[in-house]
Amino acid sequence: MNFFAPTLYRATIFNPIALDNGEYFPDGCIAVERDGLISFCGRTEQAHQMFPDSAIVDIRPNIIIPGLVDTHVHLPQFYAAGLGNGTLLQWLDNVVYPLEQEFLNEDFASRCSASFFADALSKGTTAMAVYSSSLYSATNIAFQQAEKSGIKVWMGKTMMDMNAPAPLLQPAETNIRLSLSLAKEWHGKNNGQLQYLLTPRFAGSCSSELLSLTAEVAAQEGLAIQTHLSENKDELAFVQSLFPSAVDYTDIYDSHGLLTNTTILAHSIYLAPREIQQIKHHNCGIAHCPTSNRFLQSGIMPLDQYLKQNIKVGLGSDVAGGYSLSILNEAKEAIEQSKTLRMFSEEHSEEINVGEVFYLATLGGAKVLNAHNRIGNFAKGKEADFVVVDATSIISDYVTLEQPEKILSKVFYTSPQVIATYIHGKRVFGM
Ligand code: GUN
Ligand code: ZN
Repeated sequence: MNFFAPTLYRATIFNPIALDNGEYFPDGCIAVERDGLISFCGRTEQAHQMFPDSAIVDIRPNIIIPGLVDTHVHLPQFYAAGLGNGTLLQWLDNVVYPLEQEFLNEDFASRCSASFFADALSKGTTAMAVYSSSLYSATNIAFQQAEKSGIKVWMGKTMMDMNAPAPLLQPAETNIRLSLSLAKEWHGKNNGQLQYLLTPRFAGSCSSELLSLTAEVAAQEGLAIQTHLSENKDELAFVQSLFPSAVDYTDIYDSHGLLTNTTILAHSIYLAPREIQQIKHHNCGIAHCPTSNRFLQSGIMPLDQYLKQNIKVGLGSDVAGGYSLSILNEAKEAIEQSKTLRMFSEEHSEEINVGEVFYLATLGGAKVLNAHNRIGNFAKGKEADFVVVDATSIISDYVTLEQPEKILSKVFYTSPQVIATYIHGKRVFGM
């Protein structure tokens, strides 16, 4: 064995390439170099020839997939997962805002943050776009816990300056000053594993001044932006009443300069053709959150329409609108809701398939985070972020290694156990 040779992980391997294309190796290897980067993904026979001196970690018959990407989630809502009812605006008032105020207590914030990241890793999530609390110190604590856990985060302090309880509000300039201070402290830290995202919550809780300042500093500092768009019909009416001169919801963000090729727009359910064109024009990413969209009775996003138009889409758990951090569950839900839409929509709409949701859960999500040059699949030179999925309940006499589509379907539909999660070549969860 050569100490400097890469480690080979031998398993059943799925590697996404594009929305309609992927590689499958029933007996494959990924080679992970000592610097945590991938140098090979392919057949075991070929790996043996290329790396005869390498140590082999044989995890067959288990399955290796790239780390899962959650493009939209709220850390301070983690304890409320599965709780509450009603629709968005009442749920924010009754469940979310009271819970988010608990983050004034730093011990509470610390415990919740640690549990949140541990749970995400246990479900195979290796990268996530996170709304932290509106509070400076709780966000600082969230970054500390993210660093400790080893996960990759794109995270920001949730900015609000109106229409929420006073302890969660700050004037526009204070919001920006505190966000920039956090960005200075954390952006790019831990070998680039921690990134800062400017996070104006949504047009319902941000003044025109706050939206404009956000766009200004995003351009100045080269920071990306995340926000919510067009989630619920009452919300649409509410934000339209706040910005009466805007053509539509998307125009509120567009006219303030918030739409860029690194902006992440969560939900985006009720978009008119003009809005879809604007989003495509600016090459923004959409975080599709199907579980949340059902839990809060928000609606069904026309996923197939957006994919046909080549809009960047990833999956988001949106905990606690969603009730689980599992992106495997979101992938299943994305398929199921595409069926529901097909049953009830007047317009032509198509069922999404397992290959497509596999892409959305991995490389598609990485593109939304603008991190596809680092993560999302096992291309040479990318960071070795991967998940070992237990194959016990998946591969059988009935579903064999010759049937990759059936295996993937089982991965999404049967809630298999995540045995281990690796980030940058290091095990961060499991055995
Ligand atoms: N819109 C504004 N804030 C929120 C939130 O916390 N969750 C969801 N689902 N939608 C929002
Ligand atoms: Zn959300």
